[in-house]
Amino acid sequence: MKGENVDINAISEIRSRTTVYFGVNAITKIAEITGTLKNMGISRVLVVTGKSSFSSSGAWAYVEKAFRDNGFTYELFNGITPNPEVDQVDEAVKIGKKINAQVVFGIGGGSPIDAAKSAAILLANPVKSARELYEAKFTAEKALPIVTINLTHGTGTEINRFAVVSIPEKQFKPVIAFDCIYPLFSIDDPALMTGLSADQTRYVSIDAINHVIEAATTTVASYYSVLLARETIRLVVKYLPIALDKPNNLTARYFLTYAAMLAGIAFDNSLLHSTHALEHPLSAMKPEVIHGQGLALLLPAVVREIYHTKGAVLADILSPIVPGLTGNESESDDASSGIRRWLTDIGVPSGLKAIGFSDTDVPVLTNLALTTPSLGFLLSLTPVKADESTIERMYRRSI
Ligand SMILES: [Fe+2]
Repeated sequence: MKGENVDINAISEIRSRTTVYFGVNAITKIAEITGTLKNMGISRVLVVTGKSSFSSSGAWAYVEKAFRDNGFTYELFNGITPNPEVDQVDEAVKIGKKINAQVVFGIGGGSPIDAAKSAAILLANPVKSARELYEAKFTAEKALPIVTINLTHGTGTEINRFAVVSIPEKQFKPVIAFDCIYPLFSIDDPALMTGLSADQTRYVSIDAINHVIEAATTTVASYYSVLLARETIRLVVKYLPIALDKPNNLTARYFLTYAAMLAGIAFDNSLLHSTHALEHPLSAMKPEVIHGQGLALLLPAVVREIYHTKGAVLADILSPIVPGLTGNESESDDASSGIRRWLTDIGVPSGLKAIGFSDTDVPVLTNLALTTPSLGFLLSLTPVKADESTIERMYRRSI
């Protein structure tokens, strides 16, 4: 296969606010990371992770050895589920307090890493709870240092300042954004991701696609976010079918991980808007909904809604998905149906009905999009006025 002229076995050091070790076998850099932590006087670690991938991926064997070699003590909390909830974070914090943790490791996909970031804030602000954090009752100025070992190629959380945790009794799934939760170090090792299922592979990459489509079209988009969007979409369209066909193909995993990391930088810079603001109510109401699947089902309606004002950018960045667009406002249906076709081709069922929603849910979903803390801000960044009727229309067209 023709590659991108990159040696995937060379581990690159990619610096943003976070230093990311990137490449096949980048997990070996854990020895260097723990050495640096030791020099900082750090030796007590809270590890936040999910049920099993931290171990089945092969990551844990390296991490545990590095802890042992440096004489670190640690507590491991592996109770984080997909679409994690505030009580899980509070539980992790309780365990971290037991050993007076000095650093938090998040190992896994977006859910464990976001829970780790949240725990890092709460361990540095010990009188606060996860509910207070996610109900925006305080501004987090400080957190313990965070190290992440990213095990999916989608969320971009390993390189940015965001985290998402749900408050189940309110059906809220808010986003927090604080400078103090940029990870200090992250590891992006594609060799740890070959065990992702077809659905995980598909939907984490669709998450990345949505991050850049939104980041390139918010009211605060820049040439930088458009540049990152162009490359992210090109890489996902090229390598996602390969990874779906051959899960062990490391070149495909490498570039999907690269794409997701670029997307994480894109929305760190230019934020997100309505696809995410409309998805969070879906997976808050039904925690079994996969974030990327919800996004996939909403994306055609969102693009249709914004194309008339962002046609030039969308025609440019979407060209690997829908070739031939020119940016003319008359193309909004073509752009939307072209995206739907591509999603069908990669195995996404169409319509929110497929995940158990119907027209009768639209008022509740609309209300959640408007009332969940932080989502109103995202809606305000939509390049069209995303008021109640616009939101309802986008949901209805997605059913
Ligand atoms: Fe996302």
